[in-house]
Amino acid sequence: MISIHSEGGDRLYREALAFAARQVRALVERDPDFYPMYTHHGRWRHDLPAWTHWCDGFLPGIMWILRAHCGESWRATAERYSRRLEPRQFDREVHDLGFIFMSTYRRWYELTGDPALNAVLIQAGQTMGLRFREKGAYLRSFVAEDSLFIDIMMNVGIVFYAALETGDAALLDVAMRHCLTTRRVLVRGDGSTAHEGIFDLETGEFLKQTTHQGFRRDSCWSRGLAWSLYGFGTAYGYTRDPRFLRTAEACADCFIAQTPAGGVPPWDFDAPPESRGQVDTSAAAIAASGLLQLAGMSADPVKGEFYSQCARRILTSLCEQYLAAADPAWEGILQGGVYHIHKGLGVNESVMWGEYFFVEALDRALP
Ligand code: GLY
Repeated sequence: MISIHSEGGDRLYREALAFAARQVRALVERDPDFYPMYTHHGRWRHDLPAWTHWCDGFLPGIMWILRAHCGESWRATAERYSRRLEPRQFDREVHDLGFIFMSTYRRWYELTGDPALNAVLIQAGQTMGLRFREKGAYLRSFVAEDSLFIDIMMNVGIVFYAALETGDAALLDVAMRHCLTTRRVLVRGDGSTAHEGIFDLETGEFLKQTTHQGFRRDSCWSRGLAWSLYGFGTAYGYTRDPRFLRTAEACADCFIAQTPAGGVPPWDFDAPPESRGQVDTSAAAIAASGLLQLAGMSADPVKGEFYSQCARRILTSLCEQYLAAADPAWEGILQGGVYHIHKGLGVNESVMWGEYFFVEALDRALP
């Protein structure tokens, strides 16, 4: 259970943001226009397998947040790194267009109001909508037609966004039904989540829960649970459907109850003894940001304050124990992230989504 008694606070968070700015600046100067995904022994490298290309929005997304905190000098770099993503508004290979465009073009559009930027967001949402399978009622994952991932809850937001911007009721229905299916088949009664669901392509029948990155099909992969608590909160923000708020809170309560007092979970809540010591700081960072979002949504102010305190506890632990500041050779911001433990990719490393959601959570936590 996360303990909400913690020291630290705004000064610690501002120092962490300043460190993040130094690390990102060094990366941009050392290796311009490189969008790394995870480090190897603390170094960003070009030759590491990706499995799937879902991360390119996170580095420019950090730059947009740094622009708000550290100054306008970040803007040109943020624009340059974001602009190069534009062709991906049509990318049908990945289920991650929310990650790519909501972290970048959404922030850029909110700053400028330029309709051409909004058009890219809308197209990306419409492209995501094409992943919908009527039989089963879900947006399919990148691995196969019959596969639904919990991660897609972080990307269905751009489908809601495009539907609401254009008044497209059919697209809104796609987003709604995806969330309802995910809630039904991947979120369990105790608020824990499965990573993947498999459907019968002929009938649409839901067949089983499985996993790629978690320990096993009946375990709870901690990052998946963090995606779920955050993603259902976002779905509630778009729809005000109380079912999504209840699900977000059930996932949040499960995350908080399962995570040790310091706020940083093991890579899988049911990990076997031999790997249980391996934390995933990216899951912690995502949960912190998602809890801060949820804190502003909960109908009960006491609950909202509790989520906010838990998020701050997580952030304080990340700042005090996992910031790479003590290791001058480490090129990332946050240590202790995990990408894909079974494939041996990015284990106990900096991972770009961990960096992004850490910076986003710091931004949300600061006044
Ligand atoms: N593919 C998303 C994740 O690794 O969480």
